[in-house]
Amino acid sequence: MTDHDPHPDRAPGPADASLESAVRALGSARRATLALADADDAELTAQHSPLMSPLVWDLAHVGQQEEQWLLLAADPGREPVFPAAVACLYDAFEHPRATRVLLPLLDPAASRRALAEVRGRVLDALEERERARPGAAAGAARMVAQHEQQHDETMLATHALRAGAPLLTASPTPPGRPVPADAVLVPAGPFPLGADPALEPWALDNEKPQHEVHVPAFRIGRVPVTNAEWAGFVTAGGYDDPRLWTAVGWAHRCAQGLRAPLTWRPDGAGWFTERRFGAVRALDPAEPVQHVDFHEAQAYARWAGARLPTEVEWEKACAWDPVAGRRRRWPWGEEPPTAERANLGGTALGPAQVGAYPAGASAHGAEQMIGDVWEWTSSGFEPWPGFSPMLYDAYSAPFFGGDHRVLRGGSWATAAQAVRPSFRNWDHPVRRQVFTGVRLAWDA
Ligand SMILES: [Fe+2]
Repeated sequence: MTDHDPHPDRAPGPADASLESAVRALGSARRATLALADADDAELTAQHSPLMSPLVWDLAHVGQQEEQWLLLAADPGREPVFPAAVACLYDAFEHPRATRVLLPLLDPAASRRALAEVRGRVLDALEERERARPGAAAGAARMVAQHEQQHDETMLATHALRAGAPLLTASPTPPGRPVPADAVLVPAGPFPLGADPALEPWALDNEKPQHEVHVPAFRIGRVPVTNAEWAGFVTAGGYDDPRLWTAVGWAHRCAQGLRAPLTWRPDGAGWFTERRFGAVRALDPAEPVQHVDFHEAQAYARWAGARLPTEVEWEKACAWDPVAGRRRRWPWGEEPPTAERANLGGTALGPAQVGAYPAGASAHGAEQMIGDVWEWTSSGFEPWPGFSPMLYDAYSAPFFGGDHRVLRGGSWATAAQAVRPSFRNWDHPVRRQVFTGVRLAWDA
């Protein structure tokens, strides 16, 4: 995980819509995927957690999906690298994660060969399509690059839960600085919600179309909730007080015996250790808490006299510039992410301490909205008015209207091209193996 550039898209202004930038992203995603699968066959084929697929499933799945969307969708009659009987093993809808280890999957060497074969054919096909119709090939390539980057984050989550000596080495993040544990005001007013495709060619279907919404005034946490703050909730008995939890959340907390975030263990001296990437370490009080589910996030917010933001509030706090009266492409402005602005790209193997990115602050003064930890919002996952599905038409639509809750902002494990202020992630409220954290909100 140290040989890929976490910030490959350095062009200023609107996102680069060229086929070359999409091909660069495909290359960057593939280097990350192969680095995450650079391990013994036994490691790659084992199920490290019932919550996750074996790494070798993700490895071959990205190639199978790439063949589906960049080759077979345009030319269903061509001879596939993944024949139908193999491709169906990598159908995420057909096979729940816990059962994928039982499938007759391609072994690691065969998976790598299939990935390379598909990529070679894809680069030829993209070039050919671009020659025939300039601009036609890039959209699908951007979508497929982001799909692989999303699986790179999933593979990092598998590595994070894996026991045994770490297989990955962390790169340092900037140190934190003292930041007031306060909230910033976002005044009432209209706001263009969602992605403008002219400025955000990388936006996926559920981010569109952009439309104006009116958002009442609210306050939102300057930084995400820290480990020290969460430890206060634990030691104050937050996990034992049903009044702080919703009925559904309390039933879940009892059934699962939740006592603390997923990776925390009591150290016997009144504090906690954290198991991360196979290593047990002292909990860093200044890091944003991660690996908490939606129910825990809600209970924490009630204990703190706050609530979770809606996803509309979150996006406005992140992207709206009230002085200029327009959206910014990123919280800090139009320039792309750098190592001074956000913790993205997966090389840090964890969130940076709060206060580490003053140069990444939004116009309202909120920090670390992009990167570090995904932030739970109170919103269910619903289409924006006028939604229309993209080429991979089952990416969003099957998930609308379920029990999912929306997560915003990306984590330290998210690639720079796979997140934007308008980017919407979603998951079940009980999920906590993802790099999930919390930012509080209040009515103004
Ligand atoms: Fe997938």
